[in-house]
Amino acid sequence: MNSTSNADVRRVAVIGAGTIGASWAACFLARGLDVVVSDPAPGAADGVRRMIAEAWPALTALGTSPNADPTAWRFEADPAAAVAGVDFVQESTPERYDVKQKLLPLIDAVLSPDVVIASSSSGLLVSRLSEGCRFPERCIIGHPFNPPHLIPLVEVVGGTKASRAAIDRAMAFYRAAGKHPIEIRKEVPGHVSNRLQAALWREAIYLVQEGVASVADVDAAVSEGPGLRWALMGPHMTFHLGGGAGGMNHFLRHLLPAVESWWTDLGSPTMTDDLQRRLVEGVDEEADGQSIAELERWRDGLLEQIIVLRRNAAAKLEAARERERVEARLDETFPASDALSVTRELPEQDITPNPKAGE
Ligand SMILES: NC(=O)c1ccc[n+]([C@@H]2O[C@H](COP(=O)([O-])OP(=O)(O)OC[C@H]3O[C@@H](n4cnc5c(N)ncnc54)[C@H](O)[C@@H]3O)[C@@H](O)[C@H]2O)c1
Repeated sequence: MNSTSNADVRRVAVIGAGTIGASWAACFLARGLDVVVSDPAPGAADGVRRMIAEAWPALTALGTSPNADPTAWRFEADPAAAVAGVDFVQESTPERYDVKQKLLPLIDAVLSPDVVIASSSSGLLVSRLSEGCRFPERCIIGHPFNPPHLIPLVEVVGGTKASRAAIDRAMAFYRAAGKHPIEIRKEVPGHVSNRLQAALWREAIYLVQEGVASVADVDAAVSEGPGLRWALMGPHMTFHLGGGAGGMNHFLRHLLPAVESWWTDLGSPTMTDDLQRRLVEGVDEEADGQSIAELERWRDGLLEQIIVLRRNAAAKLEAARERERVEARLDETFPASDALSVTRELPEQDITPNPKAGE
């Protein structure tokens, strides 16, 4: 497996087409890929059709490949037949070693060794998932976030057995699919993002258990506060700015003792039936009669706008940097003392914000 390019990926197999697999299918179609979907559940193809129809307006608004076609997919019940001739496999079956460990050798047996098998697993170890495969070096984790057709992050984990080429190929594939892949260098249960989410959720539940705040208020403590910043930057950069002009260095000297005292006070909830009931009732109250489908539509609509805003801001920043680079090159070529009079006015780059961004 030498190639690290995505140019040769034309056909992708999506094995397991529930919440995550169906969304992956929509994502890949938007990038102009041909998709084969496999899932043993009755009605799975209808679910995929529905997901593609629901996701397509947002995918179109965010920008699809010129050859994107929402109908460029077919359903194939047998997973071994589904992977015939594909260039990349995205597996999204239930989060269980027994299911994935049975499936992976089946598809590994019929695939050419240079085709990457990526598992969407939220936290299983890929070196265990690939046990029983002829070519475990082509198996990696490609962990997305729900819904994969919108959220850019994909965690790529090679574990102890994947080859460098397989990891590079997966990173290149996801990048070309418009995602933001990060490489997780050491396999740990839950990868990185889910460990971070689990750490926060543990404390969120503990605070409810201890009666510190209601379910809705603990949620507001995230979504109305730090969560807004977390859409822009991670915890390290957030606290770099929390240190003011002195940055992280000052933050550590100023606030680390306080944070360390909170760390020692953090709790672990005891997940009794009563506590679980309080959580269920708490989110029902917080949802205030809105169905899950309504909440998903509201979330995805705003996610789309945040993604557009961030993309426009990144394009503006890149345009400004490019202007600086060009001006620096002109300065070197035509220093100010140079007798030649040079017009160096560069036109403002016109990055017209997407109209949706301001809605
Ligand atoms: N739901 C999330 O928020 C989320 C986020 C990121 C990653 N993941 C991961 O994605 C994977 C799928 O999760 P999900 O939430 O889509 O689950 P899901 O239950 O919605 O879908 C799983 C699908 O796999 C199918 N399936 C079962 N056995 C199969 C087999 N042998 N071959 C092919 N298909 C089979 C089921 O019929 C079902 O449609 C899991 O590994 C999960 O950890 C989930």
